[in-house]
This record gives sequence, C-alpha cells and structure tokens, in this order.
Amino acid sequence: MNSSPSRAAIGVFDSGFGGLTVLKELVALIPSADYLYFGDTARLPYGSKSVETVGRYAVEATHFLEQQGANLLVIACNTATALALDQIKRAAHVPVIGVVEPGAEQASSASKNRRVVVIGTEATVSSHAYRKALEQRGMAAREKACPLLVPLVEEGWVEHPVTEQVAGIYLQDAFGDGFQGADVLVLGCTHYPLIKPLLRRVAPAHVSIVDSAHSTAKAVAGKVGDFYKALDRRGQPTLKFFATDSVEKFRRMGPNFLGHPVNSVEHVDLKE
Ligand code: DGL
Repeated sequence: MNSSPSRAAIGVFDSGFGGLTVLKELVALIPSADYLYFGDTARLPYGSKSVETVGRYAVEATHFLEQQGANLLVIACNTATALALDQIKRAAHVPVIGVVEPGAEQASSASKNRRVVVIGTEATVSSHAYRKALEQRGMAAREKACPLLVPLVEEGWVEHPVTEQVAGIYLQDAFGDGFQGADVLVLGCTHYPLIKPLLRRVAPAHVSIVDSAHSTAKAVAGKVGDFYKALDRRGQPTLKFFATDSVEKFRRMGPNFLGHPVNSVEHVDLKE
C-alpha cells in the first residue's frame, strides 16, 4: 500500500470510471485541492448488486481512501450513496458527502410544480433514496431504472441512434402516467452526464436537467472551497487514481469521463 500523501486530499469513491464525471466537476470548482480517486473496477457494476454487497465494498473503499490520507470523502457513485451512505458514514472518521442529497436539493430549487423524474440504476431506484430525499422537500418523484444506459455509455455510444432510442423509451415511460407535467429530470447515475445533450433532445422540452455530479461538486465547494482557497496553492491539483482492475483499461476509459488524460493509476487489491 502507498504511503499517505503529504497534503490533505479529497477522496472520491466510485464503482469504476463513472465517478470521474464527479471528479471533473470537483476539479473545476475546487482546483486547489488534491484528489485521490478510487474506482472499484474489478467489482463493477454496483447498480445490479444488493445492499449487503454494495455496503461491504463501500466500507472497504472508505478505509482504503482514509489510509491514503483522504480528509473528506465524496461518494460519487449514486448506487453506493443510495444504498450505503449511512453505513459509510458510520465506518468513516472524516466527513462524507454523497450525491443524492445535493441532487435532491438542486431539483428542489429548479422545480416549480414539485414533480420530478429521477433516472438511475436498478439498485438506486429500488432503494428509493432519491424519492425519500425529494419527498422530504415536498416533491413527488417518479424513479425510473435505466439499466441499459451504463453499458451504452461505456461502449462510447454517447451520440448513437441506439442510445437515443433506448433513452427515448425510458423517458417516455418515466414522463407518462401522471408525470407528464414533471418539470425536472435528475441524472441519478455517474454515467449520464456524458449523454446529457442526447437526454436533452429526448426529454420533454419544458424539463430542466439536474446533474447530480455538478450539484455534488457545488455542495463540496460550499463546505471546503474556502479552506482550499485559503491555502493559496499554486499550480495544478494532484490527481491520483486507484483501480481494482486493469490499470491499462482505466487509463484508456478514464479520459472519456474526465475529459483529459488519466495518469498515475495504481492497481489495488482489496482483501475481503
Ligand atoms: N456508478 C454507478 C452509479 O452512479 C453506475 C455504474 C455501476 O452500476 O456501477 O450508480
């Protein structure tokens, strides 16, 4: 295992590559922080797994990032947040921020008629974490699992007619039957920001899109942005990546989600 970095860093956890969309937003809003990104690529997808399994994996990742020197944890994975945030918080010794509450908060600001559609993985939708967070803010939510979208995005089909057709079918269903008037679509999965332009085209025209990756980065910046600004660091943030599967694949896939090359990837073998 690596020695801890000399400077405090923000730990970002995801089931794989998708959380790099959250890291991208974090780096844009808090460029003076250093980041440790852990992608559990050997065990993805989380979106089709049980609460017990995701909880166990997430706690292992939490311990790993803390050992590496993370002083704040961002749970970029919607599935891990939805299923295991409380468990992660109990296991962690540092503050933890997940993606569901910030997404729900932004949806609340954006919605006028208090009806919202959320799309995510099967596990996220089954947990009803978004629905509960939205109901607490006085909104009605329709949650729709879109399991085909993650593999399509990982295939790189972000502007592909098949993806457009699949997304169209999901959204037609989600915005039907009492939710025609819903005025916000929450992207409750790490992969969906990559197909935001496509979703914009297939969603009803009056709908605003809330991206939980962006909402979360804003929430993190609100919490620690001043601290990092005060450090007045010059130069680029240090980004360090850890993956439980192939380092080569992480280097190849990562840039699609992060928007620039992914260097310094280290392989990690988490012992269960
Ligand atoms: N990161 C997951 C999420 O945001 C999507 C990929 C997976 O199922 O592991 O829900």
